Amino acid sequence: MSQAATKIKENIIEREAARRRTFAIISHPDAGKTTLTEKLLLYGGALHEAGSIRARKATRHAASDWMSIEQDRGISVTSSVLRFEKDDIKYNLLDTPGHKDFSEDTLRTLVAADSGLMVIDVAKGVEEQTEKLFEVCKMRRVPVITFVNKCDRPGMEPLEVLSNVENKLGIEAIPASWPVGYGQKFQGIYDLIGKELHLYRKSEHGAKKAEMEIFSLDEGLDETNLSEAEKEQLQEEVMLIEDMFADMDQDKFKVGEASPVFFGSALNNFGLDVFLKYFSDLAPSPQIYSDADGNERELDEPFSGFIFKLQANMNPDHRDCAAFIRITSGKFERGLNVIHEGTGKKVKMSTPHTLMGDERNILEEAYPGDIVSLFSPGFFRIGSTLYEKEPVRFNVIPLFTPEHFMKVSTKDPFKRKQLREGLKQLSEEGVVHVFEVPNGVGNELLLGTVGVLQFEVVQHRMQGEYGVELYMQPVNYHAARWLPQEADDIIKKLESSYSTHVTKDMEENPIVLFESAYALSQAEEKVGGENLFKYKQD
Ligand code: G4P
Repeated sequence: MSQAATKIKENIIEREAARRRTFAIISHPDAGKTTLTEKLLLYGGALHEAGSIRARKATRHAASDWMSIEQDRGISVTSSVLRFEKDDIKYNLLDTPGHKDFSEDTLRTLVAADSGLMVIDVAKGVEEQTEKLFEVCKMRRVPVITFVNKCDRPGMEPLEVLSNVENKLGIEAIPASWPVGYGQKFQGIYDLIGKELHLYRKSEHGAKKAEMEIFSLDEGLDETNLSEAEKEQLQEEVMLIEDMFADMDQDKFKVGEASPVFFGSALNNFGLDVFLKYFSDLAPSPQIYSDADGNERELDEPFSGFIFKLQANMNPDHRDCAAFIRITSGKFERGLNVIHEGTGKKVKMSTPHTLMGDERNILEEAYPGDIVSLFSPGFFRIGSTLYEKEPVRFNVIPLFTPEHFMKVSTKDPFKRKQLREGLKQLSEEGVVHVFEVPNGVGNELLLGTVGVLQFEVVQHRMQGEYGVELYMQPVNYHAARWLPQEADDIIKKLESSYSTHVTKDMEENPIVLFESAYALSQAEEKVGGENLFKYKQD
């Protein structure tokens, strides 16, 4: 290729990357993530009528359903990334599964996102799962934009919501829009950036966009149906907060230390227009990832990407496994030949696909920020790098500390070898952490997970793929922390501590398990919290 042609190609890559927004929703179950996702698609023009995604979610509740759904190619792939385009911006919304299926996968997905959209319920504020997901955004220093949902229901006052976010997450919460009337009296949103009042009319079940009228605060208020008291209150509140967004420290926002907050109701489509108007400006375009040596891989360098999710057995007839790849540089074209870092093996990216709703589209080309998937040839691992031409290795997916533990064994003495082999395989795939039982005897192993449903997945797959019936026994561990690789003196100190047990995972990474919160805080005092990692990168 001539130099001029190469330059043009690079510019195309940068231009295409600049119009992408790859984000994930962080929320606690029931806050309205599914409803909001659907409404973003409605307002983004990808759906004409809302309803289908929530209907699908209804089938996802029971754990047993989830198993069979995982095996159903259509739904599991659909739930990984939703793409829509509005005003020349291409959005990639990465799915982060809800409560029962909360797992390490969910946390890893956030590593592939350039920003987080935090959805909170106005009545409940920041809840447990949101906090966990937020921690990953914080660790990665990515911007978080907040949507306070269900403002049509009784809840906290807006200022209370802001302090709730600040207190729970330790970030600044800066209002970008403001609700007009709360609960049943909720009628509109004041856009603090554009300085416009949007008053809405409820549409039937919120299936269509809400009808709306726009007023100015100065002269326009008299034309509204707001009562005198409501007008006065709105003016007073706006006076108090109107400069906050303009004064927001952009540097803090960019590293996730300040979050702009929008109010609304996803169900009634109130405030969504205001939110979407600014979301594309606030959410960053694809970031430049640094490789394992700390060098930046520029967006216009040859193709590279990392695997952040492996999904096995999507089709029960074939033992297949899909790999989801976040593109970090270059242009992807169907049929591209790439190299798998680590093994050096060549892979032809010939069956990538992405899904929007129920349509299965084969992606012909993709750019930084996009997610492509292909069938794993067996040696792919979570965190593996794929590249074309110039070698690179990313090390962006950390080990997350497990929070749930089970001791496992098999009753059948002839299956002990399969037990180890199967679990080793599942641990390499990132399905579960497998540890030696501290002071354990014989053939037991310890499993650790981020979500409880992961145990069921392990049980199911061990039975189905290795013919091993797992015998699981709960164990009394409260928390775990990874240790530095060379940590002999730390390990010695910890081993002599009460209710504290040091062990290793299958890759020989040392980890320490605590029987109580007290044991953990004692250990932090003894060896220093900086030596006990909640997330570990090698
Ligand atoms: P999730 O994905 O975060 O778990 O939440 P989801 O969207 O499924 O919403 C959870 C419940 O909250 C649903 O009610 C949904 O209709 C409701 N909801 C979402 N947004 C709003 C809102 O802005 N206002 C109000 N009042 N409710 C909202 P459900 O009773 O579980 O289901 P359904 O009967 O509505 O189908």
